[in-house]
Amino acid sequence: MITVKVPATSANCSIGFDCLGLALDWKSSITFEPCDTLQITGCPPEYATKDNLVYQAFAYTCKAVNLPVPGVHIHIDSDIPFARGLGSSSQCIAAGILGADAMCQLELDDREKLDIATEIEGHPDNVAPALRGGLCSCILTKEERILPIDLGAQDWKVLVVIPDYEVSTKEARKVLPAAIGLHEAAMQVGHALLFEYAWVHRDEKLLYEACVDVLHEPSRSRLIQDYPALADLAKQYKLPFWISGSGPTMAFVSQDENQLRNLQNFIACQEFFDQNGQHLKLRLCKVSDLGAEVIYG
Ligand code: HSE
Repeated sequence: MITVKVPATSANCSIGFDCLGLALDWKSSITFEPCDTLQITGCPPEYATKDNLVYQAFAYTCKAVNLPVPGVHIHIDSDIPFARGLGSSSQCIAAGILGADAMCQLELDDREKLDIATEIEGHPDNVAPALRGGLCSCILTKEERILPIDLGAQDWKVLVVIPDYEVSTKEARKVLPAAIGLHEAAMQVGHALLFEYAWVHRDEKLLYEACVDVLHEPSRSRLIQDYPALADLAKQYKLPFWISGSGPTMAFVSQDENQLRNLQNFIACQEFFDQNGQHLKLRLCKVSDLGAEVIYG
């Protein structure tokens, strides 16, 4: 049996729309075993079909190397919520690729796995940290390949705040501006450069200053009813804060675990959160240097 453990991810990280993401120490476990037919267990019956994204990625990988797709029993064990901005689809894709690679002994290298994952997902910012761990920055090279830069976990912690409603990435991409001006573009580049500097130097004050996005957060924040109150808290505590992926999850980031724990308690207890407080799940995570792992036997 082959087990693939894949981390949840938080993509975009404010200023890195479609190119920056990080891995959390919150993992799903997906197993692969040769089988006469296709069997998928551990998920609701409506997802246990050949359209299942883990299987789709498994089959895509086999086809990419001209191999017939073998029968397989896939078992999914995950408590990472779907369509919340925590990279659930990237976990399925990364697991399917690594499952196929291990079960069919394809010996794909890391860049090939990332290229396949990005082809399936459409952008690299969740799949790259899901495969590689840490904070990962990606560009598309002139040769049309994904070039990942590993910036590490650097001891950062993340408090994820998860509303109980789904936001589909497809819908959240429809609200994005078609174009931005030169001034905004220059601002975004400057903040992205500052972000990476602050991240590797573990400078929380600078990271807070860097988290000013003009590409996606202004339009997407309107889809998240809890955003204004939480963004106010981030300002009050001067904490780096962003919409995780395409939302609705939001993330507070710090070097100081106690500060995030205090904030977690504060959000859980505050009266003004009562009307929405029921809907907000809170989880304190560490950024993980470990990406997806394959365990044999
Ligand atoms: N970069 C993607 C987006 C992440 O913001 O749409 C969600 O898949």
